[in-house]
Amino acid sequence: PPLSQVLNLFEFEAVARKCMSQQGWVYYSSGSDDEMSLRENHSAFHRLWLRPRILIDVSSVDLGSTMLGHRVKMPVYITSCALGRLAHPDGELCLTRAAATRGVVQLWPTLASCTIDEMASAATNDQILFLQLYVNHDRSVSERLIRRAEKRGIKAIFVTVDAPQLGRREKDMRVKFTMEAPTVQKSDDSAGNVDRNQGTARAISQFIDPSLSWKDIEWLRGVTKLPIVLKGVQCAEDALLAAERGLDGIVCSNHGGRQLDFARSGIEVLVEVMAALRARGWQNKMEVYVDGGVRRGTDVLKALALGAKAVGIGRPTLYAMAGYGTAGVERVFEIVEDEMIMGMRLMGAQRIADLKPSMVCTKSLAQH
Ligand code: FNR
Repeated sequence: PPLSQVLNLFEFEAVARKCMSQQGWVYYSSGSDDEMSLRENHSAFHRLWLRPRILIDVSSVDLGSTMLGHRVKMPVYITSCALGRLAHPDGELCLTRAAATRGVVQLWPTLASCTIDEMASAATNDQILFLQLYVNHDRSVSERLIRRAEKRGIKAIFVTVDAPQLGRREKDMRVKFTMEAPTVQKSDDSAGNVDRNQGTARAISQFIDPSLSWKDIEWLRGVTKLPIVLKGVQCAEDALLAAERGLDGIVCSNHGGRQLDFARSGIEVLVEVMAALRARGWQNKMEVYVDGGVRRGTDVLKALALGAKAVGIGRPTLYAMAGYGTAGVERVFEIVEDEMIMGMRLMGAQRIADLKPSMVCTKSLAQH
């Protein structure tokens, strides 16, 4: 359909399924094992009901917020997904351009199809960009990646901590890996030899170090002055450790249902994490983000009300880029913005700070 007739984020998935290569489609859409966590991610939002307030002047609604001190037009960001060129010849550049037009943050993936220099060239001068880091076996490779990204003005590092090994994604494993190695890695000396006789996920995961531990987070602290955020926290205990150790933020996420199957959804984890932080008065000690299954403006508002500082969107941006390039990704955020403004009005919230935990019923979530 013409882009203007795409009315919600789910529709981009149907478009992508029709127009993408089989390899791309299975890599993007798959989850691990029985895909229980994948399905749970959006379903969890269906168990959260709203308690709107009435008779509040909502003639003007403001979605403006901040992430790590940087102004954003709305607290929604493009999370890191590997291999953007499976969707579109311009790959991640479509995401960078759309993020600029819509005033949202993009995370640059370690395993992007485009190089850091290419992504930086597509960015505007004042654009806020963060780097997603997979820590390499060879720490010097990661350090060089960080330096290159720092030179290009990156403002924070999101280190992925839920993927010591990439999950079993069976659909993906059946389609042998035929693509080139991701160029961000390829442009570095120690990478290059990819075993092609396996699925895409397996083929690219050989760069990731399974020995990663809290000690390496200290190493990272010593390597860069940028804020550091842990991506993939899945329980209150680890959120508290992150806060104690002075991390700047965490993302409650199960990696789009692609890692441990039966890991809870990010939104479910968020509730547990915020309760633990609030019990210690630590709710402002670090920023807490959430991703996974966010498809509607109300999903975003639920997460923000429950304490998230911002919310990540993954697959819909890839699917939109597959069907329509940069314009498709811009449309994703136009739809989300429209839906959020409508939702704020109907909830009686003028600005993001007006969204409170009391506006969401969490009774139907699993008891922690
Ligand atoms: C991902 N994700 C991911 N995360 C990460 O830290 N590094 C990565 O390289 C990737 N790669 C990746 C590829 C693809 C195709 C997908 C779908 C996801 C996980 C991603 O950042 C995020 O956690 C989820 O995608 C969010 O869920 P939704 O919005 O896709 O439901």
